Amino acid sequence: MRAAFPCNSMETQILGRSRGWLAYAKQYIEAGEVVAFHTETVYGLGANAFNDEAVLKIFALKGRPADNPLIVHVHKDFDISRLIDGEPPYAAALRAAFLPGALTMVYPSTGKVSKYVSCGLNTLAIRVPSSPTAQAFLREVDLPIAAPSANLSKHVSPVTARHVYDDFNGKIPLILDGGACSGGIESTVLDCTGEVPQILREGLVTREMIASVAGDCKIYVRREGEQPKSPGMAYKHYSPRCKTALCNAAEEAIALYDRERERGGKPCILAESELIPALEEREVLDLGGTGEEMARRLYALLRKAEKTATLLIGVVPKERGGVMAGVMNRFYRAFGGEHEA
Ligand code: TXA
Ligand code: MG
Repeated sequence: MRAAFPCNSMETQILGRSRGWLAYAKQYIEAGEVVAFHTETVYGLGANAFNDEAVLKIFALKGRPADNPLIVHVHKDFDISRLIDGEPPYAAALRAAFLPGALTMVYPSTGKVSKYVSCGLNTLAIRVPSSPTAQAFLREVDLPIAAPSANLSKHVSPVTARHVYDDFNGKIPLILDGGACSGGIESTVLDCTGEVPQILREGLVTREMIASVAGDCKIYVRREGEQPKSPGMAYKHYSPRCKTALCNAAEEAIALYDRERERGGKPCILAESELIPALEEREVLDLGGTGEEMARRLYALLRKAEKTATLLIGVVPKERGGVMAGVMNRFYRAFGGEHEA
């Protein structure tokens, strides 16, 4: 027996693990609708990658530029040989080492999914998320699911079901709630079409981790005037909807903060844990102490700040190494600074 849709109108339901939740999701996906779902990095906005109209709906919902390709998500036993035109030996080793997980791999495409997924590129980005919610959903539909992060274009990526709801309430039927995302920044995007793997977007799986398995790993740096290999990286991104300012030291942040107060504004400072005492009684958001903590907290804090602050002042973290490359990339972009890789 087929489960009934929970409602007829486009009221957005947030469903956690409960009876029939995956059957609803499957029905919506098969009907060409868009369903948001938890992953361990950020929430995704998913549609059947074989269905042109469903894929186009994602672009329309997000207000996403038509030249920014989507990642296809599959469950861990899905046969990707239907979707990709071969893979180098290092890619098989990387899959064995890091998947399911926060690593997206770009392969030559067989062109089987909708042409709108890769926006005319002859490659396809594939991700196998480790989130049990994502795995259960992907297994239930047993289809490749094209999914960008479930935020309006240029807004901060969502790390809770509530964040998705704030951007898409009334526009999508269902959000599969798996709780807060443990990773907190988007997956590493890795080009696996060349002799040596090349990172197009840094994330939780670091260059060192990839090189330790593949022997080597490059980082893509876009040359002046060149079309970016990962078009998404060319856009301003992840921005909170309040004024922002960036500084390098606590004293600078304090000066900006106090000036905004004098003007009658409500400033707030986002800084790593060790700076918090120096900021005294001021309104602060604690980014954490380790790279993993900063990755996990950054987007939730940006979304929190934009709700109340007139000015969000970010102090550039001093922490480096490991996942900080990915964190710094998002941090600079959120504060409007230009920063490639
Ligand atoms: O963690 C993640 O990757 C999340 C979750 C939902 O899986 N997804 C995500 O998707 O961040 P999105 O659309 O926000 O970012 C996808 C990035 C973009 O920078 C896009 O340009 C790049 O991946 N991309 C997608 N397909 C590509 C391809 N064939 N070649 C190069 N870059 C590609
Ligand atoms: Mg995104």
